[in-house]
Amino acid sequence: MLIDGHGRSVSYLRVSVTERCNFRCQYCMPEKPFSWVPKENLLSFEDLFLFIKVGIDEGINKIRITGGEPLLRADLDKFIKMISDYRADLDLALTTNAYLLKPIAQKLKDVGLKRINISLDTLKPEIAQKIAQKDVLKKVLEGIEEAQKVGLGVKLNSVPLKGINDEEIIDLLEFAKSKNMGIRYIEYMENKFAKDKLQGLNAQEVQDIIATKYNFKPAGRVESSPAHLFELDDGYRFGIIDPHKHDFCEDCNRIRLTAEGMLIPCLYFDEAMSIKDAVQKGDVKAAANVLKEVLANKPEKNKWGADDENEISQRAFYETGG
Ligand code: 5AD
Ligand code: SF4
Repeated sequence: MLIDGHGRSVSYLRVSVTERCNFRCQYCMPEKPFSWVPKENLLSFEDLFLFIKVGIDEGINKIRITGGEPLLRADLDKFIKMISDYRADLDLALTTNAYLLKPIAQKLKDVGLKRINISLDTLKPEIAQKIAQKDVLKKVLEGIEEAQKVGLGVKLNSVPLKGINDEEIIDLLEFAKSKNMGIRYIEYMENKFAKDKLQGLNAQEVQDIIATKYNFKPAGRVESSPAHLFELDDGYRFGIIDPHKHDFCEDCNRIRLTAEGMLIPCLYFDEAMSIKDAVQKGDVKAAANVLKEVLANKPEKNKWGADDENEISQRAFYETGG
């Protein structure tokens, strides 16, 4: 079991396989970065897998593949198979924008992927075009449908933005509910890469909107998940993630690995250590040592409340996978 410097058990590893993305979502990557990380700086799947094995041997039991857009990386199914073959009972998930999902969903399921989180901020093509700066909705919806068809567990992520998709909170809820999928509204997290003047709805505002049509009651959190759950009268549950509070830090169980091999103890801090040397030398012990050192230094809580921009990480969410 992996225990961090604050006594928390860490069992969840998020692995970003690329920072690149085929969307330009206003809240994440509205413009193509000045330069991408050169391809030669990316760790190979073999190198990432060496670290993943170390993590699993030490107590990681949940892995989520993220990006950027992970489906842009060639042979992602082979990477998923490597991980799944090593430990079949792993909770193995993927976060994607689903644009490229339809043709590959069955293959991903076949190689051992279990669950998939898909970003869906709107059901209107023109709003999707506005948010992602590309006409994406049709393919995204096809991706969602196919993922369900092949038997992957599907959950939706939505970022409610004032004046953009705030009139669709209930429509999105009803869409997810009608398809028996979970949905989580994520408060927009301000960051220096996002489009200026974007304004998110806060957790209370989202609840207030849903309350105009539905009764619901708080249903707690699934352990170590940042989402607060709410239950409608018919038992359907939706979630709201409010990173501006720190209440999920207390039992945070996650660490993140970037495509370049930086191991990051907390999304909201710049601190990180590289596993690159260790894995490229095949040095399992050195990789385990980096893991332990990063855990020893995992911060106690995020700093959104601190009102001090310098305290907030300058790293882009598309680099760390959010
Ligand atoms: N604020 C909130 N959520 C974000 N995401 C990306 N950028 C932000 C942000 N600034 C989330 C989106 C997407 C996932 C990949 O990351 O919900 O679904
Ligand atoms: Fe790409 Fe996801 Fe960022 Fe949108 S939120 S730009 S789909 S990584």
